[in-house]
Amino acid sequence: MAPRPESKVAEQIAPEQRASAGRKLKIALVGFGTVGRSVAKLLSQNPHSPFVLTHIYNRNVARKKVDWIPAQVRWTDKIEDVLASDADIFVEVVGGLEPAGEWVSKALRAGKSVVTANKLLIAERGPELLRLARQTGRQLQIGASVAGGIPAILAIQEGLAGDRLYRIAGILNGTCNYILTKMEATGAGFDSALKEAQELGFAEADPTSDVEGYDARAKLVILTQAGLRVNVRSEQIPCAPISPVEAVDFGYARELNCTIRQISIAQKNTANGLRLLAAVRPTLVPLASLIAHVQRNQNLVIASGEFAGPIVLSGFGAGGDPTAVAIVSDLYVIARQSNAAPADTGELAEDPQSVSGDFVVPHYVRFIVRDRPGIVAEVAAVFARFGISIDALLQKPGYPHSALPFIMTLEACSSSLLDRALEEIGRLDFHVERPLCLPILTQ
Ligand SMILES: NC(=O)c1ccc[n+]([C@@H]2O[C@H](COP(=O)([O-])OP(=O)(O)OC[C@H]3O[C@@H](n4cnc5c(N)ncnc54)[C@H](OP(=O)(O)O)[C@@H]3O)[C@@H](O)[C@H]2O)c1
Repeated sequence: MAPRPESKVAEQIAPEQRASAGRKLKIALVGFGTVGRSVAKLLSQNPHSPFVLTHIYNRNVARKKVDWIPAQVRWTDKIEDVLASDADIFVEVVGGLEPAGEWVSKALRAGKSVVTANKLLIAERGPELLRLARQTGRQLQIGASVAGGIPAILAIQEGLAGDRLYRIAGILNGTCNYILTKMEATGAGFDSALKEAQELGFAEADPTSDVEGYDARAKLVILTQAGLRVNVRSEQIPCAPISPVEAVDFGYARELNCTIRQISIAQKNTANGLRLLAAVRPTLVPLASLIAHVQRNQNLVIASGEFAGPIVLSGFGAGGDPTAVAIVSDLYVIARQSNAAPADTGELAEDPQSVSGDFVVPHYVRFIVRDRPGIVAEVAAVFARFGISIDALLQKPGYPHSALPFIMTLEACSSSLLDRALEEIGRLDFHVERPLCLPILTQ
């Protein structure tokens, strides 16, 4: 179908006006996988809801049909049928950049509001699609794209709209959290914790996106744009994998009253122009902090504002049912919006002068060495040359001299300075494996 001129689209009755006029909003569900099925279940189970499911789209749809969907719902494998239909809201739960991106644009141009759970798409093209929604007088709600059932986006954009957020931090990937908490609780190595996560359905067969930090990074991009109002692209944010974390690191972390979690953090600094610090890394977190208590595949988001201070949200960040709750909540947002302009969730975001992962924080560095006299002195000499102060040195007994682990904690220094020092230290002859460097979360 040819796109309709935007002026015509804006003349149509917006979904929220139809809802306030008492008519149920028609929902087209695009994608009938894990999340799509749960959305359909939620929509079909509540006869009093202001929504009625009218279309279900999926490729080769015949194999997807189930008997619990009301008979009036139209099943189709032609996306054109959905785009040309009178559905008010297009719920995109197909995933991936394309064709989902093209369909979302076409749906907005066809006068439909859109709800999506697609973090890849929103991290990559969120501001552009939000602009299109505004131009067409429709809404694009993205609450389910970050942290599944935790209403992080809604809380940030509505509940905390009166504050000025400067920092968002949290645990945004349930798979990594499952693996790390398993290692923490049982002393398991990374590989066996990953295998168990895969067997239980908490990790995909190809876990690269989770383990390397790419999945959490896409969510951090969305939260940064929505909450800090700073435009950032995924590739600007450094991320480090959790796979080099070993059981020995949890032992040493405990000695320091800490544990290890994959932390995503973005912090804006406006002192000398707009600058963004952001990173996704395995991080030492104090056992006393809320973040250390996030278990298994749960997520947690801490939004810190200049006025309200830190607000913590936690819960299940993935899974069909929790994510479907976020989607249906976004449907209610659309239904509730009166005649006001669609929520502006992207255009006020500014481009920063710089983006870096160069946080100035204390660090933990773990070495595994072939033992000989003088190793500590050589490492300390390099740190001293770079102006990095050692805070503590720990070496647990019971390891062979051929592969002896010890750790140093370092006083606050910039990550980039430390990287340079570690590059030099890495050239010394006693390493059995590359030193592991983790930031230590202090607040
Ligand atoms: N699962 C979660 O816990 C979770 C949490 C938060 C956000 N999300 C997001 O929600 C979205 C959906 O995730 P999901 O877990 O429900 O994925 P899924 O189980 O793979 O479901 C995707 C559905 O879309 C269909 N589909 C995929 N590509 C298609 C194409 N090109 N044309 C037509 N149909 C297509 C698939 O059909 P086939 O069966 O033929 O492949 C499948 O039925 C993703 O953006 C994901 O990032 C998921």
